[in-house]
Amino acid sequence: MNILVLGSGGREHAFTYMIAQSKRCENLFAAPGNAGTAQFATNVPILVNDFQAIKDCVLENKIELVVVGPEDPLVNGIYNFFRESNSLKDTILIGPSLEGARLEGSKERAKEFMLEHDIPTAAYQSFTAVNLDAGKQFLETLSPPYVLKADGLAAGKGVLIIDDLEEAKTELENMLAHAKFGAASATVVIEEFLDGIELSVFVLTDGVNYKILPTAKDYKRIGEGDVGLNTGGMGAISPVPFVDDTLMRKIEERIVKPTVEGLKLEGIDYKGFIFIGLIKVHGEPYVIEYNVRMGDPETEVVLPRIKTDLVDLLEATGKQRLDKIDLEIDPRAAATVMLVSGGYPEAYNKGKEITGIERIGDSIVFHAGTIQQEGKVRTNGGRVLAVTSLDNDFRKALKKSYKNIEELYFDRMYYRTDIGFDL
Ligand code: AMP
Ligand code: GLY
Repeated sequence: MNILVLGSGGREHAFTYMIAQSKRCENLFAAPGNAGTAQFATNVPILVNDFQAIKDCVLENKIELVVVGPEDPLVNGIYNFFRESNSLKDTILIGPSLEGARLEGSKERAKEFMLEHDIPTAAYQSFTAVNLDAGKQFLETLSPPYVLKADGLAAGKGVLIIDDLEEAKTELENMLAHAKFGAASATVVIEEFLDGIELSVFVLTDGVNYKILPTAKDYKRIGEGDVGLNTGGMGAISPVPFVDDTLMRKIEERIVKPTVEGLKLEGIDYKGFIFIGLIKVHGEPYVIEYNVRMGDPETEVVLPRIKTDLVDLLEATGKQRLDKIDLEIDPRAAATVMLVSGGYPEAYNKGKEITGIERIGDSIVFHAGTIQQEGKVRTNGGRVLAVTSLDNDFRKALKKSYKNIEELYFDRMYYRTDIGFDL
């Protein structure tokens, strides 16, 4: 079949890489894609929120399956746009409906959903500008650190964790009364701080059945030892070594099942990925957040471990037949290390020539922010390349990635040398 992947990051390169290996794939497209997706797919210059142009592309190229990479088009309702268009009614789109996407689009909605379905999460209350004072009083009842979350999408920057009570009150006021994160912080969720170790679980659901994909752990901070500014993710490993059968059973029974069941009970059309951000506290799993898509760079370690034909898996999701599919996972571990532009996540330059990719044999180089120009691959974003390796354990996989990174170069290239340091 003909397939379109929406997005332009390392996640989308990983999707095209896996889909291109399927016997089921005839013509593959990426919109807008990057220099990496161009190795497997035809890049079409369409932005992910231009639904009309996406529709035209789907019809013109007889595309039967669309995989939505990032959250933006999902939160903007691309699933409903497809389902409401007569000419697209047979096209499978992997991603939730508008209502499902609110689990990521609104932190308050996500908390209400968890409360309603008895899914373990941090205690919370939410506030708007009219009850700013009540918000400040609520902060006084908590012990530090204080967790403030902008309700809406804020490009991964909307969560503040603050040690000082007065500073927390000031930031609450900045968010609610002075639109620190624009409309996204018109509502703020204040929640109990959970002290533990984070991990992520990925679920593919067709709305009734589900498959649990490999676990992963990402490293969000720019600096070694997990210090400094938050980034989109500087590296990841899969599986997470501390997830044993007991923890996995708790995650499935207390979190995955009630989540899928809750969607069903609420009549929410959801055929896509659920990325559940978890924290383990004294052996018990709690949900930190839902995302309604795969993670980046988590995708770069999760997908390469899936041995089941990805197109079969995605088609079964669209046709609500996931129960008919056996999910086969590569027992090897995967690790990825992100190479980023110097300065990221603050200001950085683009357009730097990247060399050495063709010399890499035993790692997969996924392109994130890259562009092909006059026969050269150049940097085109903060996160530039993700170097993924598979091996018997994550330390060996990391060693391979780090060895291969020595072959790669662009001006002001930076990466963390300590991925997995805490495990
Ligand atoms: P989120 O955007 O909700 O994933 O939050 C970003 C990061 O803030 C998470 O990855 C956690 O590291 C941290 N975080 C969020 N909520 C809490 C919480 N209740 N307790 C401790 N850390 C949190
Ligand atoms: N790596 C975190 C995310 O994709 O949201």
